[in-house]
Amino acid sequence: MPAAEQTLWPRDTAAALLAPLGQRWAHTLGVVERVRTFADRLTTSEFDALVAAAYAHDVGYAPALARTGFHALDGARFLRSAGWERVACLVAHHSGVHAEAEERGLLDPLELFPEERSLVADVLTYCDLTTAPDGSAISAPERLSGVATRYGDDHPVGRAVRRSREELLTLVNRVAALEGDRATAEGRGRGRVRARRGGAAA
Ligand SMILES: [Fe+2]
Repeated sequence: MPAAEQTLWPRDTAAALLAPLGQRWAHTLGVVERVRTFADRLTTSEFDALVAAAYAHDVGYAPALARTGFHALDGARFLRSAGWERVACLVAHHSGVHAEAEERGLLDPLELFPEERSLVADVLTYCDLTTAPDGSAISAPERLSGVATRYGDDHPVGRAVRRSREELLTLVNRVAALEGDRATAEGRGRGRVRARRGGAAA
């Protein structure tokens, strides 16, 4: 498929689904803007996959797609059904939603989507976790604290983000180092656990 098509459908679809929701679309556009700064680190096809996933990563929040209430899974299922398999798998695992899947008892259906371990996947999570709900830039520690506070301890997302905070910050620091953006890594976690396991409804 031509490069332009790899981002047009996700862009237009996400706009139709999320623009009515206000902040979700502002956040999505912020993440897209941020991933674009990695253009010189990826091939054209890899970069297009990243941009497509950035547009699509939160479509599962759209009421029209919500089935389980777990946005990564609902979004991934929709994208797979539309034939966007790689984007579906990136969305299924963005921002380390493994812990959230466990908290929700939805790990088995999530694992029907193979987890991609790549720079594209890491940059997607990095950009999601360094973009605030309104689309502005934010540090990852502040972002994760905001998610934890917003959902609280009684919610699967609140519990998941607390469990996975250190792991996610490890990933953020690794990508920030690549980017030469040490400022983003301020307040970084001390954990040595393997990155990209954990969860935040980001
Ligand atoms: Fe997001």
